[in-house]
Amino acid sequence: MASPRFVVTRRIPDAALELLAAEGEVWLSSHDRPLTRAELHAAAEGASAIVSLLHDRVDEDLLRAAGGGLRCVANVAVGFDNVDVPAATRHGVVVTNTPAVLTEATADLAIGLMLAVTRRLGEGERLVRARTPWSWHMYFLLGAGLQHKTLGLIGLGAIGQATARRARAFGMRVVYADARAASLSVAQELGASRLSTDELLGTADVLSLHCPLTPETHHLIDAAALRRMKPTAYVVNTARGPIVDEAALVAALEDGVIAGAALDVFEHEPDVHPGLLELDNVVVVPHLGSATVETRTAMAELAARNAIAVVGGADPLTAVNAAALQRFPG
Ligand code: GLV
Repeated sequence: MASPRFVVTRRIPDAALELLAAEGEVWLSSHDRPLTRAELHAAAEGASAIVSLLHDRVDEDLLRAAGGGLRCVANVAVGFDNVDVPAATRHGVVVTNTPAVLTEATADLAIGLMLAVTRRLGEGERLVRARTPWSWHMYFLLGAGLQHKTLGLIGLGAIGQATARRARAFGMRVVYADARAASLSVAQELGASRLSTDELLGTADVLSLHCPLTPETHHLIDAAALRRMKPTAYVVNTARGPIVDEAALVAALEDGVIAGAALDVFEHEPDVHPGLLELDNVVVVPHLGSATVETRTAMAELAARNAIAVVGGADPLTAVNAAALQRFPG
């Protein structure tokens, strides 16, 4: 049997490349940037597995370009909105993601952003770096405290839960909106009440987004949703940019509809709405949720193990379409 061909669309940690190299031939992009569509299609030709990153669009065209030998798309991310999963399923291709290994790092970042925006850390940093003269005084850069405030989570999956645990340590109350109710033990541990999205919007002092990007959650936070929020409330987004209507957010921030926003992800990533960059009550960082050495290594290794398992005929560790494939084998 010919050795499998693993196509890796952008550099991933060596530990994962070594796992792949031990099992087959590895094609690794030599570019330090996302591949263009044409490059991606050319690279995918003849692949047994594609190890994709969240900026790679895996669609019908790419699946066709890869050809009939493609068995697995191992996305190095927990989110897989960049992959057309039904198309992959039709082609009999297993799609895998990297849940769990990035939960704690992403929750850390959500809390970091929450602190940064409520305590005005970006403003303070910019002021000091600009060598602006300052002296300590009672009203200098006052922010909002978190103790006794309410954290509203949209989505109480693993990352939402990990964020809630941290927020509880800051003395926050936790409420959540999710299509699925949390188990009794999770709800009890977090002291978390389930609300409708509308109730949550009106209740949260900090709204933190932890849902996947789907057609249902696209622009979930739009002008109407922002108007339901308290004028003192903040939005934190470590999930996916298009969940928030960025133009509506800019307008809401400019008009004082809400107090601030802290964003790790953007609607048209890597572009950022220019209006956000003009506002002092906004913290922006470039999609760093899982960006620790340990987490990125674990994500890449998990993706590699998934690809190796599938091309070797074994069960993937973390497939997103395993059940669908069983019903519609390719
Ligand atoms: C990062 O955004 C991920 O989905 O893992």
